[in-house]
Amino acid sequence: MALLEFSAAELLAWRRAQLAEGGRAVDLDWLLDLGGGLRWSVLQQLHLDPLRSVVLERSLEQLAIIWKQHLDNSIPLQHLVGCCPWRDVVLEVSAAALIPRQETELLLDFALPGLAQQPFGRWADLGTGSGAIAVALARALPDWRGHAVDCSREALALAERNLQRFAPHASWQLHHGSWWEPLRPWWGELSLVLTNPPYIPDAELAQLEPVVRDHEPHLALCGGADGLEACRHVIDGAMQALRPGGWLLMEHHHDQSDAVLALMRQQGLQEVAYKSDLLAIRRFAIARHPEHNYK
Ligand SMILES: C[S@@+](CC[C@H](N)C(=O)[O-])C[C@H]1O[C@@H](n2cnc3c(N)ncnc32)[C@H](O)[C@@H]1O
Repeated sequence: MALLEFSAAELLAWRRAQLAEGGRAVDLDWLLDLGGGLRWSVLQQLHLDPLRSVVLERSLEQLAIIWKQHLDNSIPLQHLVGCCPWRDVVLEVSAAALIPRQETELLLDFALPGLAQQPFGRWADLGTGSGAIAVALARALPDWRGHAVDCSREALALAERNLQRFAPHASWQLHHGSWWEPLRPWWGELSLVLTNPPYIPDAELAQLEPVVRDHEPHLALCGGADGLEACRHVIDGAMQALRPGGWLLMEHHHDQSDAVLALMRQQGLQEVAYKSDLLAIRRFAIARHPEHNYK
């Protein structure tokens, strides 16, 4: 990739001109970082040192074109540069799958600490999309066997590229199909299942920001009339698919905590609990298969 050199003053003037067209500074700085290779911390230093020179990975003209496409058509910047940072990696992303969200990273923080002493097990990521959760599990649990499921072949192709790139030596498989169904051969053996299912109620879809509504797959967003269709499918199958003592961790919508926890209890799952996101909203549900003879 050709490296392009600019003065700090030139770059800061360009930045002001772009923001005069519209958009948020935080997004433009994200583009400079992920699209131009200019770390945010370096950008901050330029304000103090306008004589300094800066090296970018794309020209300012190319970055301006991307910014304009984002402003004019509400195309996510992640789609325009083809990547998104997630935990300790920068994943490939595309319109084939949901852009992995920062809040979903918390699912891993809730799941992993208790498994530190667990040398072997079998994990699954239901509705893997870009493969974000599967990549994180495969990297954190390299001696486990893993399964990433999605009903979108395009999403699975993207997940495969991310898994091959970021967890090439871990043991994982991709499965095309609906929720637990393709994992039937391993029912009763799954120690850890994470899922971020589609959970937006149909009626809310029209109110989403155009950058989401018009560019992210509706298959990844729409959870049916009450938003809980996919959550119900996953919870209904958990008792059969989890191994005794196995864990299910699920992300859900901001107002679904009570309903999801009730569904988990109705199915006989135990140690049912909520967890909150960075804004202190109850956004995750955790439950465990009841027999605690977990080895
Ligand atoms: C909210 S996205 C989550 C993607 C990714 N796990 C993440 O957190 O960024 C939900 C995913 O579930 C998939 N999905 C929807 N219906 C499904 C089904 N019946 N069976 C399996 N996957 C499904 C979608 O294709 C999408 O990739």
